[in-house]
Amino acid sequence: MKAIVYTRYGQPEVLELKEVAKPVPNENEVLLKVYAVSINDWDWQLLQGIPFVNRLINGLVKPRKRILGSDIAGRVEEVGKNVKQFRPGDEVYGDLSGEWGGFAEYVCARENALILKPAEMSFEEAAAIPQAAMLAVQGLIDRGEIHSESKGRRKILINGAGGGVGTFGVQIAKLYGAEVTGVDNSGKLEMMRSLGFDHVIDYSKEDFTKNGKSYDLILDVKTNRSVFDYKRALAPNGIYTTVGGSTGRLIQVLLMGPLISKIYKKNLCIVVLKQNKDLAYMNELFKEGKVKPVIDGPYRLDEVQKAFKLFGEGNHKGKVVIRITRD
Ligand SMILES: NC(=O)c1ccc[n+]([C@@H]2O[C@H](COP(=O)([O-])OP(=O)(O)OC[C@H]3O[C@@H](n4cnc5c(N)ncnc54)[C@H](OP(=O)(O)O)[C@@H]3O)[C@@H](O)[C@H]2O)c1
Repeated sequence: MKAIVYTRYGQPEVLELKEVAKPVPNENEVLLKVYAVSINDWDWQLLQGIPFVNRLINGLVKPRKRILGSDIAGRVEEVGKNVKQFRPGDEVYGDLSGEWGGFAEYVCARENALILKPAEMSFEEAAAIPQAAMLAVQGLIDRGEIHSESKGRRKILINGAGGGVGTFGVQIAKLYGAEVTGVDNSGKLEMMRSLGFDHVIDYSKEDFTKNGKSYDLILDVKTNRSVFDYKRALAPNGIYTTVGGSTGRLIQVLLMGPLISKIYKKNLCIVVLKQNKDLAYMNELFKEGKVKPVIDGPYRLDEVQKAFKLFGEGNHKGKVVIRITRD
């Protein structure tokens, strides 16, 4: 089968299109024909072997797992004898991070990493959903308590709003009637407005933590400021949830967050991704026409280097998707 393989850490140039052996599922796995895969920040970090923790996961000197790609959508070809939920022919999607292997024509997956894809959802849309939508749901609903009417999370800000998490986040926040502000670079603001953001801020021109405005809930995908800046930008009883960003700043949130919560009654917390947990909810929202993934692409398998470059430069809008197989 064809796959995008890397044998050393580096920039997108180390990704090579190669012929490799087709994987064989064990008794608890299904073999999937991959139709589409999207790029996540974790793929980008594993490609370069940064931060160091990713080398502990995937090899100190060179990558152990040589095919990246976690968020996939495809068709079941074979099932192991213990697999209960799926049959050959089923169209499924999910997040395979931990195993990866999605930038390939075939991949093996545990059944609990997958969910049936609604017929009306394209493979590209399905591949865009897993990590980004889970982080948006878990950041806004589970940790951000956007649903809590008593706490009135009316004014919401998403920092790093034009990428994967933010483009799902605004659509989810709008379901709760929130007024949503998005922060990103100037090239993405028009797309963000068209997606439903009520206000947009160009981060190169304005610092949302210093403009005198405050928010009931902040969802951050970039965490590049101090906890005191975030505290200042929160309204009384406000919640700040971060899904990722600078390691030093995240450690600060981890260490200082509880103290700030106690003293100022403003909650700062880190969202730890629960893989695939809310895919059924996303299926419902999609079928009801309430959420639609924003797709950059789709690119072809032989354009993966280009797609990774676009992602690494931050020039993508929504989710970068690669179409692998065509019927
Ligand atoms: N918590 C967990 O368990 C977990 C698991 C997986 C992933 N993650 C994290 O989740 C996040 C994934 O987010 P994503 O998929 O939405 O990423 P993304 O698609 O790369 O989007 C991030 C956006 O932020 C923008 N940006 C860059 N610098 C900024 C700044 N200073 N201020 C505001 N915006 C800025 C980027 O645009 P430009 O670069 O063009 O400016 C880009 O549009 C990552 O941080 C990842 O590490 C967390």
